[in-house]
Amino acid sequence: MSPESIFGQLEIPAIRSLTMRRPDDWHVHLRDGDMMKAILPFTTAQFARAIVMPNLMPPIVTTAAAEAYRERILMARPAGLDFQPLMTCYLTDATLLDDVEDGFRREIWVACKLYPAGATTNAAHGVTDLARIAPVLERMERIGMPLLVHGEVTDPDIDIFDRESVFIDKVLIPLMRRHPGLKIVLEHVTTEEGIAAVRENAPRLAATITPHHLLLNRTSLFQGGLRPHYYCLPVAKRERHRQALRKAATSGDACFFLGTDSAPHLREAKQAECCSAGIFCGATALQTYAQVFEEEDALDQLEAFATVNGPQFYGLPLNAGTITLERSDDVVDCAIEIGGSDVVTFRGGERLAWSIKEVARPDNT
Ligand code: NCD
Ligand code: ZN
Repeated sequence: MSPESIFGQLEIPAIRSLTMRRPDDWHVHLRDGDMMKAILPFTTAQFARAIVMPNLMPPIVTTAAAEAYRERILMARPAGLDFQPLMTCYLTDATLLDDVEDGFRREIWVACKLYPAGATTNAAHGVTDLARIAPVLERMERIGMPLLVHGEVTDPDIDIFDRESVFIDKVLIPLMRRHPGLKIVLEHVTTEEGIAAVRENAPRLAATITPHHLLLNRTSLFQGGLRPHYYCLPVAKRERHRQALRKAATSGDACFFLGTDSAPHLREAKQAECCSAGIFCGATALQTYAQVFEEEDALDQLEAFATVNGPQFYGLPLNAGTITLERSDDVVDCAIEIGGSDVVTFRGGERLAWSIKEVARPDNT
């Protein structure tokens, strides 16, 4: 046998299965009512806990509303699962200081969410001027309650692809200076500038990264025609930004963690004259992250990103139990029926490289 043919046989077998601590989703939209009932099982199948966004109609602005919403989620939770929703307070110009503190101390909510008014879906009640909520931010700083930001300016004169980087310079950096002790998460970061700002200001500043922003760039939105199901906010950016996100997510650095921003809308809201922003990625999130980490030759960093960095930032315990992913050619359904309509699944109908094989929960291991 020639040396060449021996070499030819020396192929390193690809990893076929991956077991890690159960992960959490640090940014998800679970909606309410029938929509919640239909989509919640996809999140509970993958994640042990999730930070639930408060942008319902009307938004969750009081502790009492958060408690009631949390209860509705627990009622809709598939039987036998231990999934824990972690609630957030939607900041408005009229947020009640003492209610924020009281809800945080009673562990009803874990953070406040800042939507600049009009920035995204159901953000009409968002904050119009940060000066108005300075006392709330001061209080949060004092009690160690994190601020989660939708990091985009809303000025119609600012190009939509620049709204995150302008937000960082004009809003986020000055905000961090005014509140030096405030812990902040730049949610669903989409730019190189965002990644750099997070690295410079860690550990008080962190960021979540979505599965879709790791796969899509702005050209994907126009591939063969306009793709409404790839439209979300912040909108996908140029390829160099996607590459920066992939490097950051797979770096293992503590300031980056998993947040799907799974945000379902009915098909008719997406395939419309004015398409709603949001991608339903809840059914294929972990499979997509695993694929990206493998492509970046960093499967060994997936556990840090998905299970360690988030709880560490929030000061919460790591999960018990494990999840096992296995190499597969699984195909997830294209859409989920809801009433007479449906929600299109991100990567539904595609052959996925990874599938979820098994979840070992503490009580059924
Ligand atoms: C989210 C939604 O639909 O609630 N949409 C989105 O595009 N991500 C809101 C948000 O997180 O911006
Ligand atoms: Zn979101």
